[in-house]
Amino acid sequence: MHPQPEPPGRRRSSTWEGRLLGAALLLSCQVPRTTATVYPSNHELYKFDYLSSNPHHDGITRPLTKRDNPIPLIITNNCRDTLWPGIRTQNGDPPEANGFELGPGQSRHMSVGPTWQGRVWGRTNCTVSGDSATCETGDCFGKLNCQFGGTVPTTLAEFNLAGGINNQQTFYDISLVDGYNLPLGLVYHPADNTSYIPPNLVNAACIATAGYLSTSSASGVSYSNASFPLPYEHHETNAALASWCPWDLQAFPPTKPGDGVYPYPDDTVQRPVFDPCKSACAADNAPQHCCTGAYSEPARCHPSRYSRRAKAACPDAYSYAFDDASSTFIIPNGGGWEVVFCPQGRSTDIIQTFGPELSQIANGGRVTPDMLRRVMDAAYIEGTRSGGTATAAGVGVRFVVGAVAAWVGVWGWGTL
Ligand SMILES: *[C@@H]1O[C@H](CO)[C@@H](O)[C@H](O)[C@H]1NC(C)=O
Ligand SMILES: *[C@@H]1O[C@H](CO)[C@@H](O)[C@H](O)[C@H]1NC(C)=O
Ligand SMILES: *[C@@H]1O[C@H](CO)[C@@H](O)[C@H](O)[C@H]1NC(C)=O
Repeated sequence: MHPQPEPPGRRRSSTWEGRLLGAALLLSCQVPRTTATVYPSNHELYKFDYLSSNPHHDGITRPLTKRDNPIPLIITNNCRDTLWPGIRTQNGDPPEANGFELGPGQSRHMSVGPTWQGRVWGRTNCTVSGDSATCETGDCFGKLNCQFGGTVPTTLAEFNLAGGINNQQTFYDISLVDGYNLPLGLVYHPADNTSYIPPNLVNAACIATAGYLSTSSASGVSYSNASFPLPYEHHETNAALASWCPWDLQAFPPTKPGDGVYPYPDDTVQRPVFDPCKSACAADNAPQHCCTGAYSEPARCHPSRYSRRAKAACPDAYSYAFDDASSTFIIPNGGGWEVVFCPQGRSTDIIQTFGPELSQIANGGRVTPDMLRRVMDAAYIEGTRSGGTATAAGVGVRFVVGAVAAWVGVWGWGTL
């Protein structure tokens, strides 16, 4: 058993988003055309080669290592059951272990190199013996210490600690492109030189499992940091989350009474609480779901029912290949990360709420007093989202502003 060869990167071409982006860029300055690698099923992160992309960086002629600057990577299991986190390193110095057991309430503190690029997911229901582990979700080719990726469907945390301009930005996201298995949140642990970044601009979470949502709150004032209220998605209910996954995409669908004999309405069948969901792309590998072949342009590849439902439950997460502008977080590099399985609270809605603020941090690396006032103001947070149902125009403007920063940061310079 070997992992699939890495799919070649593909280029974006002209689309409505591309034209809007182009117009916005022309207005601001002369910036190169955007090109990008997209994320098909089992997608790879965009490539990053420290030396070849950055030969003159500060006179350093070798990749920085953990010895130069170790970055914390902490994995926390807040779930009720034991998990076996899996980690895949795509670049840079890896953490101390790429797979291990983690009991409920436990954290494991590790570190990675400053140019680390990789992803983290949770494996469930593993049978472990020595260095082998057979898991119901996220399985690493039978190994406890993962060597390659994990079996879909899994909720992924993805990081590139040294991307963008002079490799001085951190890109990260929560991805449901390959499916969903567990609620996952990210907690930023700032470095001394990045402690100015407000925590409610960076700590994204995706909670799409019934029973794990806190009570609805647009700004999270009641159960997040009172000084920096997190913008939360506030439409979902625990009851609705029980059936967000399209019936036929459940990884382990419950048996329907009368299945194959009488038609039975799907939604009345009791589903298990732990109900991993395959993405449409991962389920059938169809070009229209994976945005490949004739569908490899944003104008042609539309979100599937899976993507729309995933995005509704987790607005800050990637739901399909061309969802990048509303799912990629970019901040100046320096700090470390905690990946929390089953975090408290609700799914965040940070990018849509704080698009302009995030652009400002990504581009200028600065938080102005004015911006600080806004991000600490629950009324501003709730207002920007018009009570949660932002108008199409409002979303459009924010989307484009955010997209410019995100796309320039990710691709404008990086892939030249
Ligand atoms: C499988 O793992 C999930 C998540 O940890 C848990 O909720 C579920 O009860 C487990 N199933 C079995 C059969 O142990
Ligand atoms: C809120 O976040 C800020 C910045 O991270 C931190 O200094 C402060 O202690 C936090 N407050 C609470 C109540 O957790
Ligand atoms: C913060 O300091 C670290 C370690 O010296 C450095 O790698 C990083 O680029 C700095 N980040 C910023 C935003 O200056």
